[in-house]
Parts: sequence; structure tokens; C-alpha cells
Amino acid sequence: MAPIAEDKIKVLLLENIHPDATELLSGAGFQVETHDGALGENDLAERVGGVHLLGIRSTTHLTSAVLDKADSLLAVGAFCIGTNQIDLPAATDRGVAVFNAPFSNTRSVVELAIAEIIALTRRLTDKSRDMHAGIWDKSATGSHEVRGRRLGIVGYGNIGSQLSVLAETLGMSVHFFDIDDKLALGNAVRCSSMEELLESVDIVTLHVDGRPGNMGMFGEAEFARMRQGAIFLNLSRGFLVDHESLRRHIESGHLAGAAVDVFPQEPKRRGEAFESELRGLSNVILTPHVGGSTEEAQQDIGRFVASKLRHYADDGNTSLSVNLPALALPERVGTHRLAHVHVNTPGVLATINGLLAEHGVNIEGQYLGTRGQIGYVITDIGAPASAEVTRILTDMPETIRLRQLS
Ligand SMILES: NC(=O)c1ccc[n+]([C@@H]2O[C@H](COP(=O)([O-])OP(=O)(O)OC[C@H]3O[C@@H](n4cnc5c(N)ncnc54)[C@H](O)[C@@H]3O)[C@@H](O)[C@H]2O)c1
Repeated sequence: MAPIAEDKIKVLLLENIHPDATELLSGAGFQVETHDGALGENDLAERVGGVHLLGIRSTTHLTSAVLDKADSLLAVGAFCIGTNQIDLPAATDRGVAVFNAPFSNTRSVVELAIAEIIALTRRLTDKSRDMHAGIWDKSATGSHEVRGRRLGIVGYGNIGSQLSVLAETLGMSVHFFDIDDKLALGNAVRCSSMEELLESVDIVTLHVDGRPGNMGMFGEAEFARMRQGAIFLNLSRGFLVDHESLRRHIESGHLAGAAVDVFPQEPKRRGEAFESELRGLSNVILTPHVGGSTEEAQQDIGRFVASKLRHYADDGNTSLSVNLPALALPERVGTHRLAHVHVNTPGVLATINGLLAEHGVNIEGQYLGTRGQIGYVITDIGAPASAEVTRILTDMPETIRLRQLS
């Protein structure tokens, strides 16, 4: 492995992150080192010293013990959707920015939902099962086009709203319910309650987030409200749905079919047995939480997170950061920039500006964001700040981290 030059931003990418990330970060002039697998706590603690940007996926755990050894770490990229594997408070306390890719697999989930809606509406799983058993049944009974059918989307966020657009292009009539005021796209019809939606549509699909209040939100009462012969999909979170009730409504023939991608308990690794009340039902499509798992999504995640890391390192840009105040900054053109992460207490900005004025530093632009206990102020200045100015700013009791970007 080639040694990393002292003057370069050093990047360590673990867990087989898509090569586009390496390309983007190397192209920015950073020195990138990659490692195929995840690293355990001790190994990571040994490797993280001197690293400025760290990229992980879901298997590597970034604990406060590792962060203690991360003497140069500016930012962490979670090249995935979730950030549970990162001790976020510990990262924030040390002024380490964390980024992830919340939208990169939206399209993949939408396409799987569309595929399943068509497969179930057309009874493809039953036809396929019969053919494998040597049964030739050309009957059209119970098989429908999706054109003209009513699709009910619960949760009209990134995924729900994109599904709405694609479903309309297939000629479906879209109804949705969201607890927030969401703009209805195309001809979609907003329902004022989930009950209203359940009674109006032929297909119900859940795309809500995993907030604690949503646990068990879809059970016996909700299934009972669905129309005779309706179809149910859940590609959002496993703990939302009572699978015993779903099984009863499938077995009784009340529901014509279902597709489930997420489960309350999921095997932790390949080869571990999958247990579910829903196994063994031919008109229920079961998939192992692969809604967002496509090569395209992986590539998009690689590019998206690498770009976030690059813009943070070069310009201090924190837009869509998971933990620092989000500042979407203009690119630096001919200016020098002071990026100051601090404890959010009254008067910090006034102190910084007082110090800069005292030392004759002219401010060309300034941006402040706060998020809970953390403040982040970007100050653009015409000439580099002197070592004395940066030392005084660094020594302020509220300072968590100061960087001068030139
Ligand atoms: N299967 C997969 O592989 C996969 C991949 C990506 C995302 N997901 C899951 O899909 C879900 C949706 O993702 P997203 O990016 O669209 O999220 P999002 O945050 O953009 O949208 C969620 C929407 O649900 C709404 N909502 C929350 N609780 C609600 C409730 N009780 N009733 C009605 N509306 C409610 C919110 O207001 C929001 O508009 C998430 O749970 C996410 O974890 C699954």
C-alpha cells in the first residue's frame, strides 16, 4: 500500500464501497486507501489515526473509543441509508461531520413495488407455482390490468411520492395519506385519514418512516377495513405490521395477495434461518429486505456520499449532514474560509467577530447554523488568517473545531 503524502487529505474507505467513490475522491486530489471488508473496533482504532475522511457501510461500528484515536478525522461517510452503526453524539462532540445517502435507493424501492403490484394483480405467483407443478391453467379469473386500478399510498415522502408518479404513468388512480401536509403530485388524491384510504383503494402500500409511534400501526382493524380482494404491500419497516393478522386475511381470501420486504425480526447474516408467519403462502411475495438493493443504488450511494465528503473537506459544506447544522454554502472563489464548530451558547458569533475586527480581518461573507447544542459558523475572509488569529479562535472555550480552508 502506497504511503500517504503529508499534505494531502487522507481517505480510508472500508467495506467494498463502490469504485465511483474512490474515483471521485482521488479526482479531487485526495489520497484514497481502500479495504474490502469491515474492521472491528481494535483494528479500526489502529488504522484511523491520520485519516481525515472515513467511509464505512453498515457493518463497521464507529464507537467513541475509535473516535478517541481519530486524531485527524473531519468527516465520516456512511455509504448506506442508516447511521445506527455510528455513535453520533460522540462524533458531534468531537466536531466530526457525518453524512449518509438517504435518497439513493428511492427509485429501486419504487420499481420493486411496481413489479410486485403488477405480479400480484395479474396473479403471477399462482400461475408460476402451478406451472412448476405441471398445471396448465389459462384462466383469466382474478387476473387484472393495473390500468384503472386504485393505488393507496400510506406515507407520501421520497418513495411514496415517486411511486405516485410512476403508478400514474401506468394508468393507475393514486390516493395517498400522509400525516404531514404533502403536495399532491399529478392527479393524486389526498385522503384525510388512513381509514378513508383503506376503504377506497384496490392496493395498499406502506411507505412511512420508522418513528416510534408507527410501531404496530397496521393490524387487524386496518386489514379488516381493506376492500375484498385488495392487495397489501410493505417495503418500509417490519415492525409496522401485524403479520399474524395479515396471514389470517390472506388465508380467508379477504385479501388477494401481499408483498413483504421487511420483517420485525430479520436474519443478521446470510445463511441464518428466516422465520415468519407469512412463509408458505403462494400469493405472498417475500423478499429479504432488498427493496433498495440494486447495483444502480450502490453506485448512486458511492457518488452521493463521496461528493458530500469532498464538499465538506474543501468548502465546509454541511448540507444534508446527519449531525452538524446544515449549511449549503456557495463555493469559495478567491476567498479564504474559517469553519468553526462550537458549543451553541449565546454570544459566540459576537466574540468571533470581535476577535476578527480586533486583528484587522475583513469579513466578506458569513453563514451561521445551529442544531441543538452545536453551532457552525463559516466566515469568508479576503486573506488567510494569521496563526495568532486561528490560535485565539481555537482556544475559545466554546470551540470544538476550527479549520481554515484556503
Ligand atoms: N425496503 C427497503 O430496502 C427500503 C429502502 C429504503 C427505504 N426504506 C424505508 O421506506 C420508508 C420510506 O422511506 P422514504 O425515504 O420515503 O421516507 P420519508 O421520510 O421521505 O417519507 C416518509 C413519509 O411518511 C410519513 N408518515 C410518517 N408516519 C406516518 C403515518 N403514521 N401515517 C402516514 N404518513 C406517515 C411522513 O410524514 C413522510 O412523508 C422508510 O421507512 C424507509 O426506512 C426501505
